[in-house]
Amino acid sequence: MGWQRKDLLGLRDLTAEEISLILDTAVPMKGIIGRKIKKTPTLRGRSVVTLFYENSTRTRSSFDLAAKFLSADTVGLSASSSSVAKGESLRDTGLTLNAMGVDVVVIRHPASGAAEYLARCIPAAVINAGDGTHEHPTQALLDLFTIREKKGTLTGLKVAIVGDILHSRVARSNIWGLTKMGAEVRVSGPSTLMPPDIEQMGVKVYSELDAALEGADVVNMLRIQLERQQQGLFPSIREYSRLFGMNQRRLELTAPDALVLHPGPINRGVEISAEVAYGSRSVILDQVTNGVAVRMALLYLLTGGEVNAIAH
Ligand code: CP
Repeated sequence: MGWQRKDLLGLRDLTAEEISLILDTAVPMKGIIGRKIKKTPTLRGRSVVTLFYENSTRTRSSFDLAAKFLSADTVGLSASSSSVAKGESLRDTGLTLNAMGVDVVVIRHPASGAAEYLARCIPAAVINAGDGTHEHPTQALLDLFTIREKKGTLTGLKVAIVGDILHSRVARSNIWGLTKMGAEVRVSGPSTLMPPDIEQMGVKVYSELDAALEGADVVNMLRIQLERQQQGLFPSIREYSRLFGMNQRRLELTAPDALVLHPGPINRGVEISAEVAYGSRSVILDQVTNGVAVRMALLYLLTGGEVNAIAH
Protein backbone atom coordinates (compact mmCIF):
# COMPACT_ATOMS: atom_id res chain seq x y z
CA MET A 1 0.00 0.00 0.00
CA GLY A 2 1.34 3.45 -0.93
CA TRP A 3 0.54 6.84 0.60
CA GLN A 4 -2.66 8.26 -0.95
CA ARG A 5 -3.39 11.47 1.00
CA LYS A 6 -2.50 15.03 -0.03
CA ASP A 7 -2.05 16.15 3.59
CA LEU A 8 -1.22 14.95 7.11
CA LEU A 9 -3.72 16.71 9.35
CA GLY A 10 -4.21 14.31 12.26
CA LEU A 11 -4.09 10.70 13.39
CA ARG A 12 -7.82 10.42 14.04
CA ASP A 13 -8.51 9.82 10.34
CA LEU A 14 -5.52 7.56 9.59
CA THR A 15 -5.74 3.78 9.44
CA ALA A 16 -3.34 1.49 11.31
CA GLU A 17 -1.85 0.60 7.90
CA GLU A 18 -1.14 4.25 7.09
CA ILE A 19 0.49 4.77 10.50
CA SER A 20 2.62 1.65 9.97
CA LEU A 21 3.65 2.90 6.52
CA ILE A 22 4.92 6.18 8.02
CA LEU A 23 6.77 4.39 10.84
CA ASP A 24 8.28 1.85 8.42
CA THR A 25 9.42 4.66 6.10
CA ALA A 26 11.07 6.43 9.04
CA VAL A 27 13.35 3.42 9.72
CA PRO A 28 15.66 3.95 6.70
CA MET A 29 15.41 7.71 7.27
CA LYS A 30 16.88 7.20 10.72
CA GLY A 31 19.74 5.35 9.04
CA ILE A 32 20.44 8.47 6.96
CA ILE A 33 20.59 10.79 9.97
CA GLY A 34 22.93 8.37 11.72
CA ARG A 35 25.55 8.92 9.03
CA LYS A 36 28.31 11.52 9.13
CA ILE A 37 27.18 12.96 5.77
CA LYS A 38 23.42 13.24 6.10
CA LYS A 39 22.53 14.75 2.74
CA THR A 40 20.61 12.64 0.20
CA PRO A 41 19.24 13.93 -3.14
CA THR A 42 15.75 12.44 -2.59
CA LEU A 43 13.80 15.74 -2.56
CA ARG A 44 16.13 17.80 -4.74
CA GLY A 45 14.08 20.44 -6.56
CA ARG A 46 11.19 20.26 -4.07
CA SER A 47 10.40 23.01 -1.58
CA VAL A 48 9.11 23.10 2.00
CA VAL A 49 7.84 26.13 3.95
CA THR A 50 7.48 26.07 7.73
CA LEU A 51 4.71 28.55 8.63
CA PHE A 52 4.60 29.00 12.40
CA TYR A 53 2.03 31.16 14.21
CA GLU A 54 3.23 29.82 17.60
CA ASN A 55 6.67 29.34 19.16
CA SER A 56 8.58 26.11 18.62
CA THR A 57 12.04 24.67 19.08
CA ARG A 58 11.76 20.96 18.33
CA THR A 59 9.05 20.74 15.67
CA ARG A 60 10.19 23.63 13.53
CA SER A 61 13.90 22.88 13.59
CA SER A 62 13.38 19.17 13.00
CA PHE A 63 11.13 19.81 9.97
CA ASP A 64 13.75 22.22 8.67
CA LEU A 65 16.56 19.71 9.16
CA ALA A 66 14.45 16.85 7.77
CA ALA A 67 13.83 18.81 4.56
CA LYS A 68 17.50 19.83 4.29
CA PHE A 69 18.77 16.27 4.84
CA LEU A 70 16.57 15.26 1.87
CA SER A 71 17.95 18.19 -0.22
CA ALA A 72 14.65 20.11 -0.42
CA ASP A 73 14.76 23.91 -0.51
CA THR A 74 13.36 25.42 2.69
CA VAL A 75 11.85 28.69 3.87
CA GLY A 76 10.93 29.42 7.50
CA LEU A 77 8.17 31.94 8.23
CA SER A 78 7.04 33.20 11.63
CA ALA A 79 3.72 35.02 11.95
CA SER A 80 5.45 37.79 13.91
CA SER A 81 7.96 38.56 11.14
CA SER A 82 5.79 38.00 8.06
CA SER A 83 2.87 39.89 6.49
CA VAL A 84 0.59 38.04 8.92
CA ALA A 85 1.61 40.83 11.33
CA LYS A 86 0.09 43.31 8.82
CA GLY A 87 -3.23 41.49 8.92
CA GLU A 88 -2.88 39.02 6.02
CA SER A 89 -5.32 36.11 6.34
CA LEU A 90 -4.24 32.48 6.53
CA ARG A 91 -5.90 31.82 3.19
CA ASP A 92 -4.08 34.69 1.46
CA THR A 93 -0.76 33.67 3.04
CA GLY A 94 -1.31 30.09 1.84
CA LEU A 95 -2.31 31.17 -1.70
CA THR A 96 0.79 33.40 -1.86
CA LEU A 97 3.12 30.56 -0.88
CA ASN A 98 1.35 28.19 -3.24
CA ALA A 99 1.80 30.65 -6.13
CA MET A 100 5.57 30.46 -5.54
CA GLY A 101 5.46 26.73 -6.32
CA VAL A 102 5.83 25.41 -2.78
CA ASP A 103 5.35 21.63 -2.52
CA VAL A 104 4.72 21.28 1.25
CA VAL A 105 3.52 23.78 3.86
CA VAL A 106 4.13 22.81 7.49
CA ILE A 107 1.83 24.87 9.70
CA ARG A 108 1.57 25.46 13.45
CA HIS A 109 -1.38 27.62 14.52
CA PRO A 110 -3.19 28.42 17.78
CA ALA A 111 -6.63 27.69 16.26
CA SER A 112 -7.91 24.10 16.16
CA GLY A 113 -8.76 23.29 12.54
CA ALA A 114 -6.35 25.82 10.97
CA ALA A 115 -4.30 23.14 9.19
CA GLU A 116 -7.41 21.54 7.71
CA TYR A 117 -8.65 24.96 6.55
CA LEU A 118 -5.31 25.72 4.86
CA ALA A 119 -5.31 22.28 3.21
CA ARG A 120 -8.69 23.08 1.64
CA CYS A 121 -7.41 26.46 0.36
CA ILE A 122 -4.29 25.30 -1.49
CA PRO A 123 -3.24 22.37 -3.72
CA ALA A 124 0.17 22.05 -1.98
CA ALA A 125 0.53 19.35 0.67
CA VAL A 126 -0.14 20.57 4.23
CA ILE A 127 1.34 19.03 7.38
CA ASN A 128 -0.19 19.91 10.74
CA ALA A 129 2.61 20.82 13.16
CA GLY A 130 0.10 21.47 15.97
CA ASP A 131 -3.29 23.24 15.76
CA GLY A 132 -4.72 24.64 18.98
CA THR A 133 -5.77 21.85 21.33
CA HIS A 134 -6.77 19.60 18.42
CA GLU A 135 -3.86 17.47 17.12
CA HIS A 136 -0.07 17.34 16.88
CA PRO A 137 0.24 14.30 14.62
CA THR A 138 3.98 14.39 13.97
CA GLN A 139 4.72 14.45 17.72
CA ALA A 140 2.51 11.39 18.21
CA LEU A 141 4.11 9.61 15.25
CA LEU A 142 7.60 10.17 16.68
CA ASP A 143 6.35 8.95 20.06
CA LEU A 144 4.93 5.80 18.44
CA PHE A 145 8.15 5.30 16.48
CA THR A 146 10.24 5.61 19.66
CA ILE A 147 8.06 3.17 21.61
CA ARG A 148 7.99 0.65 18.74
CA GLU A 149 11.76 0.95 18.28
CA LYS A 150 12.43 0.26 21.98
CA LYS A 151 9.68 -2.30 22.64
CA GLY A 152 9.45 -4.00 19.25
CA THR A 153 5.68 -3.51 19.09
CA LEU A 154 2.85 -1.21 20.09
CA THR A 155 0.19 -3.88 20.35
CA GLY A 156 -0.78 -4.80 23.91
CA LEU A 157 1.43 -2.20 25.62
CA LYS A 158 0.04 -0.33 28.63
CA VAL A 159 0.69 3.37 27.99
CA ALA A 160 -0.05 6.02 30.65
CA ILE A 161 -0.47 9.62 29.45
CA VAL A 162 -0.27 12.01 32.38
CA GLY A 163 -1.07 15.67 32.95
CA ASP A 164 -3.00 18.42 31.21
CA ILE A 165 -5.01 16.21 28.86
CA LEU A 166 -7.63 18.91 28.23
CA HIS A 167 -5.27 21.31 26.46
CA SER A 168 -2.89 18.75 24.99
CA ARG A 169 -2.92 18.22 21.24
CA VAL A 170 -0.06 15.77 21.87
CA ALA A 171 -2.32 13.66 24.11
CA ARG A 172 -5.16 13.62 21.58
CA SER A 173 -2.93 12.53 18.69
CA ASN A 174 -1.22 9.92 20.90
CA ILE A 175 -4.57 8.51 21.99
CA TRP A 176 -5.82 8.16 18.41
CA GLY A 177 -2.55 6.63 17.23
CA LEU A 178 -1.91 4.27 20.14
CA THR A 179 -5.46 2.89 20.27
CA LYS A 180 -5.44 2.26 16.50
CA MET A 181 -2.17 0.36 16.92
CA GLY A 182 -3.59 -1.86 19.66
CA ALA A 183 -2.11 -0.31 22.82
CA GLU A 184 -4.06 0.05 26.08
CA VAL A 185 -4.12 3.77 26.90
CA ARG A 186 -4.55 5.11 30.43
CA VAL A 187 -4.89 8.82 31.13
CA SER A 188 -4.40 10.56 34.46
CA GLY A 189 -4.59 14.21 35.50
CA PRO A 190 -6.69 16.68 37.48
CA SER A 191 -10.42 16.26 36.74
CA THR A 192 -10.45 19.95 35.77
CA LEU A 193 -7.88 19.19 33.04
CA MET A 194 -9.72 16.17 31.59
CA PRO A 195 -11.83 16.57 28.41
CA PRO A 196 -15.52 15.73 29.00
CA ASP A 197 -15.54 13.28 26.05
CA ILE A 198 -12.33 11.48 27.08
CA GLU A 199 -13.90 8.05 27.78
CA GLN A 200 -15.36 8.05 24.25
CA MET A 201 -11.77 8.05 22.93
CA GLY A 202 -11.32 4.46 24.12
CA VAL A 203 -9.06 5.13 27.12
CA LYS A 204 -9.20 4.35 30.85
CA VAL A 205 -9.29 7.42 33.11
CA TYR A 206 -7.46 7.40 36.47
CA SER A 207 -7.93 10.16 39.06
CA GLU A 208 -4.99 8.73 41.08
CA LEU A 209 -1.67 8.78 39.25
CA ASP A 210 -0.21 5.85 41.20
CA ALA A 211 -3.01 3.57 39.95
CA ALA A 212 -2.40 4.65 36.33
CA LEU A 213 1.31 3.88 36.65
CA GLU A 214 0.86 0.37 38.11
CA GLY A 215 2.58 -1.99 35.63
CA ALA A 216 2.68 0.58 32.83
CA ASP A 217 5.10 -0.18 29.96
CA VAL A 218 5.31 3.45 28.87
CA VAL A 219 4.66 6.75 30.65
CA ASN A 220 4.21 9.90 28.57
CA MET A 221 4.40 13.01 30.79
CA LEU A 222 2.80 16.22 29.51
CA ARG A 223 3.61 19.86 30.14
CA ILE A 224 0.94 21.98 31.85
CA GLN A 225 -0.11 24.40 29.11
CA LEU A 226 -0.40 27.53 31.21
CA GLU A 227 -0.68 29.62 28.03
CA ARG A 228 -4.02 27.92 27.19
CA GLN A 229 -5.54 27.94 30.69
CA GLN A 230 -7.89 30.11 32.64
CA GLN A 231 -7.19 30.66 36.34
CA GLY A 232 -8.24 28.08 38.87
CA LEU A 233 -8.02 24.84 36.89
CA PHE A 234 -5.88 23.30 39.63
CA PRO A 235 -4.99 24.48 43.15
CA SER A 236 -1.35 25.47 42.48
CA ILE A 237 1.74 24.30 40.59
CA ARG A 238 3.11 22.87 43.85
CA GLU A 239 -0.11 20.90 44.43
CA TYR A 240 -0.16 19.73 40.82
CA SER A 241 3.40 18.53 41.11
CA ARG A 242 2.62 16.63 44.33
CA LEU A 243 -0.41 14.88 42.83
CA PHE A 244 0.66 14.36 39.20
CA GLY A 245 4.43 14.86 39.04
CA MET A 246 6.67 11.97 37.95
CA ASN A 247 9.47 11.13 40.37
CA GLN A 248 11.71 8.20 41.28
CA ARG A 249 9.22 6.74 43.78
CA ARG A 250 6.45 6.72 41.19
CA LEU A 251 8.74 5.25 38.54
CA GLU A 252 9.08 2.15 40.74
CA LEU A 253 5.34 1.49 40.26
CA THR A 254 5.76 0.97 36.51
CA ALA A 255 7.02 -2.15 34.74
CA PRO A 256 10.75 -2.72 35.42
CA ASP A 257 11.67 -1.78 31.83
CA ALA A 258 9.14 1.03 31.41
CA LEU A 259 9.99 3.95 29.12
CA VAL A 260 9.53 7.60 30.12
CA LEU A 261 8.57 10.01 27.34
CA HIS A 262 7.97 13.76 27.32
CA PRO A 263 7.24 15.83 24.19
CA GLY A 264 9.10 18.85 25.58
CA PRO A 265 9.63 21.56 26.50
CA ILE A 266 10.12 20.20 30.03
CA ASN A 267 9.25 22.06 33.22
CA ARG A 268 11.77 20.32 35.49
CA GLY A 269 10.46 19.81 38.99
CA VAL A 270 6.83 20.45 37.93
CA GLU A 271 5.55 17.50 35.86
CA ILE A 272 8.80 15.50 36.04
CA SER A 273 11.86 15.45 38.28
CA ALA A 274 15.27 16.03 36.70
CA GLU A 275 16.49 12.60 37.83
CA VAL A 276 13.65 10.86 35.94
CA ALA A 277 13.81 13.18 32.91
CA TYR A 278 17.50 12.40 32.44
CA GLY A 279 17.58 8.94 34.02
CA SER A 280 18.14 5.53 32.44
CA ARG A 281 14.44 4.97 31.56
CA SER A 282 14.08 8.31 29.79
CA VAL A 283 13.88 8.27 25.98
CA ILE A 284 13.26 12.00 25.69
CA LEU A 285 16.33 12.70 23.55
CA ASP A 286 15.61 9.59 21.43
CA GLN A 287 12.22 11.20 20.73
CA VAL A 288 13.99 14.31 19.44
CA THR A 289 16.24 12.29 17.11
CA ASN A 290 13.32 10.19 15.90
CA GLY A 291 11.32 13.35 15.22
CA VAL A 292 13.72 14.19 12.40
CA ALA A 293 13.40 10.67 10.92
CA VAL A 294 9.59 10.66 11.09
CA ARG A 295 9.39 14.12 9.52
CA MET A 296 11.76 13.03 6.73
CA ALA A 297 9.43 10.08 6.12
CA LEU A 298 6.37 12.33 5.92
CA LEU A 299 8.00 14.84 3.57
CA TYR A 300 9.06 11.92 1.39
CA LEU A 301 5.64 10.25 1.33
CA LEU A 302 3.69 13.48 0.78
CA THR A 303 5.84 14.38 -2.22
CA GLY A 304 5.18 11.03 -3.88
CA GLY A 305 7.94 8.80 -2.57
CA GLU A 306 7.65 5.05 -2.27
CA VAL A 307 8.93 3.14 0.73
CA ASN A 308 11.20 0.81 -1.28
CA ALA A 309 12.92 3.60 -3.24
CA ILE A 310 14.71 5.55 -0.48
CA ALA A 311 18.26 6.51 -1.50
CA HIS A 312 20.54 5.12 1.21
N1 CP B 1 6.96 18.99 21.27
C1 CP B 1 6.91 20.17 20.63
O1 CP B 1 6.01 20.41 19.84
O2 CP B 1 7.93 21.03 20.92
P1 CP B 1 8.11 22.48 20.28
O3 CP B 1 6.95 23.33 20.79
O4 CP B 1 9.44 22.96 20.77
O5 CP B 1 8.03 22.35 18.80
